Amino acid sequence: MLNLGILISGRGSNMESILKSIKKKKIPIKPVVVISNKPNAKGLKIAEKLGVNVEVIESKGFKGSRWQYDKKIIEILTKYGVTQKNGLVCLAGFMRIISPEFVKKYKNRIINIHPALLPAFPGLDSQKQALDYGVKYSGCTVHFVDSGMDTGAIIIQSIVKIKENDTEETLSKRILKEEHRIYPEAVNLFARKKINVSKRRAIIS
Ligand code: GRF
Repeated sequence: MLNLGILISGRGSNMESILKSIKKKKIPIKPVVVISNKPNAKGLKIAEKLGVNVEVIESKGFKGSRWQYDKKIIEILTKYGVTQKNGLVCLAGFMRIISPEFVKKYKNRIINIHPALLPAFPGLDSQKQALDYGVKYSGCTVHFVDSGMDTGAIIIQSIVKIKENDTEETLSKRILKEEHRIYPEAVNLFARKKINVSKRRAIIS
């Protein structure tokens, strides 16, 4: 069975939905560790409650390079068996850019959730970007992580219709509901080896 590591920085609601779905839907993957770059991330408590090991590698004040920081993450992932052969790494609100070296080592084994329909509105505050732009639909995207900013092959997307009276808060809430649905679905597809990446396309069988 594959081993799953989840990287978080805060609330951890996507992490929670993944962990709960694995149990409920019997997704064939073992969640072995949740790692946070912030010691006070709320998600850490949730992970502990759900019986998953937690680790913190504080990024604030870290003196080394991005790659040196990522090497610490890889050390922990390896310790728990989330390897390049047998692992999946889910970024779930992990507020750091990952080094190209990390991406290369775990090629097509790191996935992320983004609260917009990529390639529209990459980066931060995507829900606000969508409202400011005036699009009528937004949504969320689960994608592989490559060395660009939110540019990797797309696995699943879900569309959310924007209402005339939406605020950043109301839109974010409706998008988050979809995030909680599609992220576990993508983990399930990965765990069952149903995703094949060919150039830019993640082909689902
Ligand atoms: C989510 O909106 C996710 O799309 C984005 O960061 C947020 C994390 O929320 N990448 P949570 O920590 O999973 O609750």
